[in-house]
Amino acid sequence: MTTIETIEGVRGFLDPMRRAGRSIGFVPTMGALHAGHWSLIERARAECDVVVVSIFVNPLQFGKGEDLDLYPATLDADLAGCDERGVDLAFCPTVSEMYGDGQSFKTGVRVSDLSEHLCGRSRANHFDGVCTVVAKLFGIVGPDRAYFGEKDYQQLLIVRRMVADLSIPVEIVACATLRERDGLAISSRNRFLSPDQRKAAAGIYESLTSAVEFVHAGQRNISELSARIRHHLETSGQARIDYVEIVDAANLESLTEIDRPARICVAVHIGETRLIDNVAVDAM
Ligand code: PAF
Repeated sequence: MTTIETIEGVRGFLDPMRRAGRSIGFVPTMGALHAGHWSLIERARAECDVVVVSIFVNPLQFGKGEDLDLYPATLDADLAGCDERGVDLAFCPTVSEMYGDGQSFKTGVRVSDLSEHLCGRSRANHFDGVCTVVAKLFGIVGPDRAYFGEKDYQQLLIVRRMVADLSIPVEIVACATLRERDGLAISSRNRFLSPDQRKAAAGIYESLTSAVEFVHAGQRNISELSARIRHHLETSGQARIDYVEIVDAANLESLTEIDRPARICVAVHIGETRLIDNVAVDAM
């Protein structure tokens, strides 16, 4: 595996491969790689000739008071794991390689509407930061396919909209959420949970699956379903709810009834740690 820190270096590495007709698969990450990332990387490895992983903690997507400084940095382990899984290129730029001195960087990419729902309400500008860095990374790497996890469902839809609107020639591949044995969605933030908080966190997925069972039993009403999820989360003790929403899976608009493919999405704080999760549900 080759590790490169510069944009020019990435282009020099990938251009001959692209000219030789080799397909490029790309997994953008912020490091602290875990089983969820490994599953994206393994899928890219199975589907593409060349696999590129970026490791860059993007300051643009963190708001004031968010955990940028606390974001776990495990670069050596990340690179070793990428190497073991047959990654060809790890791109690990510095902040100044990506954004210069910050003052001269004047461009932002915003996908309206989709960015205003769910996490967009409590994390102003978060998705603008995501879109700006992902568009820039796509410009640097020029991948044929890029792999994103469904755990960040809103991010996935926003990136899809962005590449369609900007005619960026990349296929966005959605990959299923990886879960711990008790159902907790695997996330870099889980490591911040104390043992008690970790136990309580299992209640997030339980609340989602209990709502899906309720739908399968015939319940379609969003207020009833949301109330069930809230009750479940509140009785699991430690979760402070940021949102519980059941939305149209295509555009994230709120629903009053489950009458089309929908997504049940939750965000909670457990202690200082903010966790999100979602599941698909349909009226069928
Ligand atoms: O999902 C993430 O880890 C980040 O939002 C991403 C896509 C790597 C952009 O920084």
